[in-house]
Amino acid sequence: MTNNLSLSSPQSSGITILAIESSCDDTSAAVCRDGIILSNIIANQTVHEKYGGVVPELASRAHIQNIVPTVQTALTSANVKLEDIDAVAFTQSPGLIGSLLVGVQFAKSVALALDKPLIAVHHMQAHVLANLIDADNRPDFPFLCLTVSGGHTQIVLVKSPLELDVIGETIDDAAGEAFDKCAKLLGLPYPGGPLVDKHAKEGNPSAFKFAEPQMAELNFSFSGLKTSVLYFLQKQEAGFIEANLKDLCASIQYTIINILLKKLNKAVLQTGVKRVCIAGGVSANSGLRNGLQTMGKKYGWQTFIPAFQYCTDNAAMIAITAHYKYQAGQFAGLDASPSARAEW
Ligand code: KG4
Ligand code: ZN
Repeated sequence: MTNNLSLSSPQSSGITILAIESSCDDTSAAVCRDGIILSNIIANQTVHEKYGGVVPELASRAHIQNIVPTVQTALTSANVKLEDIDAVAFTQSPGLIGSLLVGVQFAKSVALALDKPLIAVHHMQAHVLANLIDADNRPDFPFLCLTVSGGHTQIVLVKSPLELDVIGETIDDAAGEAFDKCAKLLGLPYPGGPLVDKHAKEGNPSAFKFAEPQMAELNFSFSGLKTSVLYFLQKQEAGFIEANLKDLCASIQYTIINILLKKLNKAVLQTGVKRVCIAGGVSANSGLRNGLQTMGKKYGWQTFIPAFQYCTDNAAMIAITAHYKYQAGQFAGLDASPSARAEW
């Protein structure tokens, strides 16, 4: 790696940004001033639980109901008035198109009414930059980030807040999807990831062995794991899952984390970058958080993990990304439109 950039402290210019995140099933609004998060409000949608996954149409409707009170609460708890806002940021992509549309249109309306600029933010970049929220504990550049969410799994080389290269990604399911699909096979409700984490804490991670894919380079594949768990469970007798739930969760979690951390180690060896972060919903997983720290101690990495509330979807990460885009003068027009696709 060539240069070893240090993150300059945000200038104290009093720039206040309202950020909105509505890419999937959580409606979130945050306020930041000069890169410091003043509030981060998240309205979760429980309507999807009974369907075993997010129902896009229901998500869009819930965003419409939630967005005004969520933004109002974010402003109140930041002690900021709407007229104090200098820019309005929103998640532009990727995500569910109907959900994104609610956030984009709301942001445009506020920006138009206040005559303030708009900032369009990429959700995956925002997950990575969640690692820059804590001014007392954030990585210098360049750093590596393993971004693991419900829809994506990527290894990203971050050269600066606005220069990010995806150097590895999944060719099929995302890590969060693997957690959720395996959890479903175990009869756990959606989203299963946090429940697998909870049961795994009391289980034996080497009780059962599941296949690990052999993927080239820095790419991942998780669809084989789900199939391997399915075939294994089909061979068992009735009552097996209930009797072995904790060990099954611990073994599945161990397999997923092992796949992730092995590739991360490969990325460190390939790039020579030893500042390593994790991000995205699955970075809330206690096994992954502990595993990263253990790897860090073993191999001499400097490791960073966002605070728990900045791992799963939240608008604070949109706000911190918008802060850097504001400084770089990267604004969007009123013709900005959302995109479901992940291209950066
Ligand atoms: O980043 P995120 O909130 O939304 C997307 O952008 O997709 O990630 C959601 C994913 C879900 O698959 C959820 O099951 C998983 O993150 N997740 C977890 C944990 N908390 C959330 N997976 C494993 N362990 C957890 N503690
Ligand atoms: Zn996300």
